[in-house]
Amino acid sequence: MKGGYDHFMQKEIHEQPESLLQTMRGRVQFQRPAVGNPYLTQRVKLGGLVEHGATVSRCRRIMLVACGTSFHACLATRQTLEEMCEVPVVLELASDFLDRRCPIFRDDTCFFLSQSGETADTLRSLEYAKAHGALCVGVTNTVGSAISRMTHCGVHLNAGYEIGVASTKAYTSQILAITMMALQLPPPRVTKHTRFPPPLPPPAPQAYTSQILAITMMALQLAEDSISKRERRDCIIDELGQLPGKVRSTLMLDSAMLELAESLKGASSLLFFGRGYNYATALEAALKVKEVALIHSEGILAGEMKHGPLALVDKHMPIVVIATRDGMYKKMESVIQQLLAREAQLYILCNEGDESMKAYEAKGCKLIQVPETVDCLQPVINIVPLQLLSYHLTVLRGLNVDQPRNLAKSVTVS
Ligand code: UD1
Ligand code: F6R
Repeated sequence: MKGGYDHFMQKEIHEQPESLLQTMRGRVQFQRPAVGNPYLTQRVKLGGLVEHGATVSRCRRIMLVACGTSFHACLATRQTLEEMCEVPVVLELASDFLDRRCPIFRDDTCFFLSQSGETADTLRSLEYAKAHGALCVGVTNTVGSAISRMTHCGVHLNAGYEIGVASTKAYTSQILAITMMALQLPPPRVTKHTRFPPPLPPPAPQAYTSQILAITMMALQLAEDSISKRERRDCIIDELGQLPGKVRSTLMLDSAMLELAESLKGASSLLFFGRGYNYATALEAALKVKEVALIHSEGILAGEMKHGPLALVDKHMPIVVIATRDGMYKKMESVIQQLLAREAQLYILCNEGDESMKAYEAKGCKLIQVPETVDCLQPVINIVPLQLLSYHLTVLRGLNVDQPRNLAKSVTVS
């Protein structure tokens, strides 16, 4: 069952090259189409979005609703959705969404992310949003789950069973699924907002060929509108093809993370600093460390550092700073300098071959070097060494990896 691994969490971390491939299988055309061939412009095709894709493209607001790790996947992909769809994207923790009875409109699209597809708060939020007339889209790993059945449409992750209570491979597949959705949903041609039309009746079998024709025409029309984004989309899709291989080489950091865990196993607190796409990485790494290794841990938005968290920093505080090359790189470098000035013990997660970051080794920092990919996919790679770190910390501390205390895999009560 554990395929030669000691624990399910370990197995599931190491399965990620394959689970990512499964999430993309049959949905992404990795080859760039021949120039001038209009029938091959759609390189990402999620079957589950076909029926309601145009409605999503025309909506006034996208809401991403989830709990825990699934919420972090929302945070990691928000910027990609905003960039590709040019629609405001808001994030909602399902419990808070329900507590506030958040206002919902008929021209909202609500995405519900859930590995299990059964999480009570996410499910209740879905019922609420559906009752208020929003288009409800599921992103679930469990075919036939309540969320999969109750949403108007959606995408299955196809990442395979996740048994360890701490979610790992579902997280990276969720990031991928939303990124693929963003790539498939270019901005609307007409900016006038329309209301969510009544659901279509179930298609008759003979409607199939007409659907293919209609959707092919729709895809061609939508692709026409997004010429300005085509280069960026092609670049992201090319990197999707490289991603499983890059995750596989990131997994080679396993023994380095074991070594790091040896030096951190006695820590009483561990901080993770990130911003931009990698604020989610900081939150998710901190959640993994606290839930399985039972060490107090916080993910901190680096932009908020001076507004409180800096007070915690001294030479006893281990901090992981996520500083891979993206638009936030210079700002993260300044964060590193400010933390060093307070003598923090720094572990810098950076890209391989980054000479500027290498210079910090001379100042006592340790580097975790990962392969580089396009900015919006970098969180998929960056979380991998931090998953390994939390796994090794847990084993070294003699704790139960797959069944952390007080937690259940599927939270079916609020
Ligand atoms: C589907 C088939 C897959 C087949 C492929 C071939 C299923 C589950 N999937 O995959 O076996 O190989 O066609 O074309 O039969 N949905 C929701 N909410 C969710 C998730 C999904 O409503 O949270 C809906 C989708 O809108 C879609 C259906 O479930 O109507 C299947 O979704 P998905 O498995 O993602 O679709 P395909 O990848 O096309
Ligand atoms: C953390 C973890 C939880 C779940 C959360 C939502 O490792 O597993 O935070 O992510 O309970 O679960 P799903 O995604 O099944 O809705």
